Amino acid sequence: MNTFYLTTPIYYVNDKPHIGHAYTTILADVLTRFHRKTGEDVFFLTGLDEHGQKVQQAAENRGVDPIDHCDEMAPRFLELWEKLHIQNDDFIRTTEKRHVAVVQKILQDVFDSGDIYEDEYEGLYSISEERFITEKEAESGDFRDIKKIKEKNYFFKMSQYQQPLVDHINKNPKFIQPEHRKNEVLGFLKKPLGDLCISRPKSRLNWGIELPFDSNYVTYVWFDALINYITAVGYNVDEDGFNKYWPANYHLIGKDILTTHSVYWPTMLMSAKIPLPLGIFAHGWWLSGESKMSKSLGNVVDPLGLIEEYGVDPVRYYLMREMVLGQDANFTMESFIKRYNSDLANDFGNLLSRVSNLLKKFFDGKIPRDEDDSPEGIVIKENGIKVVSDVWNHIESMRVSEAIETTLQYIRSVNKYMETMAPWKLAKSDKDAAGKVLFTAAEALRISAVLLAPVMPNRTQIVLETFNAAGSSLEWGGLTPGKSLNKHDALFPRIDVKKLEKPSQSNGKKTEPNNVITFDEFQNVELKTAKVLEAEKVDSADKLLKLQVEVGDEKRQLVAGIAKFYKPEELVGKMIVVVTNLKPATIFGLESYGMLLAAKKGKDLTLITIDGEKVKSGMKIY
Ligand code: MSP
Repeated sequence: MNTFYLTTPIYYVNDKPHIGHAYTTILADVLTRFHRKTGEDVFFLTGLDEHGQKVQQAAENRGVDPIDHCDEMAPRFLELWEKLHIQNDDFIRTTEKRHVAVVQKILQDVFDSGDIYEDEYEGLYSISEERFITEKEAESGDFRDIKKIKEKNYFFKMSQYQQPLVDHINKNPKFIQPEHRKNEVLGFLKKPLGDLCISRPKSRLNWGIELPFDSNYVTYVWFDALINYITAVGYNVDEDGFNKYWPANYHLIGKDILTTHSVYWPTMLMSAKIPLPLGIFAHGWWLSGESKMSKSLGNVVDPLGLIEEYGVDPVRYYLMREMVLGQDANFTMESFIKRYNSDLANDFGNLLSRVSNLLKKFFDGKIPRDEDDSPEGIVIKENGIKVVSDVWNHIESMRVSEAIETTLQYIRSVNKYMETMAPWKLAKSDKDAAGKVLFTAAEALRISAVLLAPVMPNRTQIVLETFNAAGSSLEWGGLTPGKSLNKHDALFPRIDVKKLEKPSQSNGKKTEPNNVITFDEFQNVELKTAKVLEAEKVDSADKLLKLQVEVGDEKRQLVAGIAKFYKPEELVGKMIVVVTNLKPATIFGLESYGMLLAAKKGKDLTLITIDGEKVKSGMKIY
């Protein structure tokens, strides 16, 4: 039997799950549901990445043990997966014993083979990224909390595997997908590949897996995390299980973690003499406006709210249909509602209510005897057979949104067929012919529901149950003539866009400026109170002041053009308002992480400040 092993990244346990995390997991769920349907032996893995500095820090801040912290955080993901109807086969946590044992085994094997060496290293270390960074990276402004560190560490001889990796990528064109990501990795591999620092001294970080050959160190969180993919299928424990599923068919990842998966991971496996995964597929990002949706930018969409409001299936549908795999997509409520109303309510839902109502009205709520053998009916039947293989081809080639669109096009063609044949008119002159049309339309709808079931497992079930055809196959002819229809609720009640709009204030008259923004757009801007700790002039620019501000637990540097209006000493101690999720900028060579708010007219400028006993830095402003 063919096997299909698919993984998602293991998500950071600290993060609050958002649409981005939900996306990859739903994608894996949809793909594995399709593969299960073809009879393959599927293994679908997801889980959590629980070691590292940030977890240690978060636990310390809360005054709890890191493992207790992880145990408290992990259910948030599990609950979401349950709400999203995710059918994973395993949920791995990197703090589990089974995983620790495998990581230590790999570390020891790689060490024994001579691929790990000790060296003193001095360099720039980014605490937020938990790794050494180059001077160039430090200058890019993308890294915070940079420290110069000199210490002894262990290094993995990644450089030795540079050429074998390039050869492997060239010999296996599907190893990194889509094509443009493969080229990106090959471009990266044109420059000499350095060795990888794989240890962290316990003096700095102890929340990790100890090196089996030096108890003063734990291993680098990525060296630990990537290994989860082999732990879960029984590496070194269950040989048969491991050989059955490994190598994985795909590691699904977001483009943010391409290098770790397509450079670190394969070279680690080469050194440990384990076969490489068959494919690594990097999808794009969900954007909110121009930026990636991420916790640090504060522009994330909470999937739970959406599910509550519109149901699980529409959320799964939107995410799968809207993002073309490999490219970025923009998440907006407008596009969500548009897709819902046009594809789901108008096309799919409408077809069900039309067909079932007509069957009730003219055929006593029973499935008619014969299918339509008119030329129009034959086209629907032929396309109903073709759509199945077209969808499957798309799925096999990881074109999920195209697979969905192909099904929707078929549904639209069935709606047209209904209009052309007008069975409601036909029923009055030739009831037999009307019955045939309705049979064919119902069968086409049944096939479409089976095809959409991996994406919308719940609502498609309603369609199948209506026709008494639950569990039926993808072969044309699954309806049983004479069977009674079951009652059903509206499949996708239309969303009334007008109701969603906020009622206007002031005596019924609408005051709508032409630059209105939606509530969501406003919410994307994160405003917080910040206390000015230090302020100084910038030598090279007489308009600028450089400020150090405190935003809750965090310190930030801001560069602002207010030197003409305020003396540095006037600002210290003031509680100001800062946009905290603005993309960092370099102003006159200085990093600025945010923007302060001020009122300005002509030549006057006054900073917006907040006073009050209860006001503390880091408070969110609504
Ligand atoms: N723990 C690492 C992964 C280790 S895998 C061995 C990690 N975790 S994460 O919590 O940051 O999750 C990253 C993954 O979440 C991305 O690769 C992607 O799959 C998903 N997404 C997070 N934000 C996203 C978007 N805004 N858009 C799409 N997917 C995103 O990195």
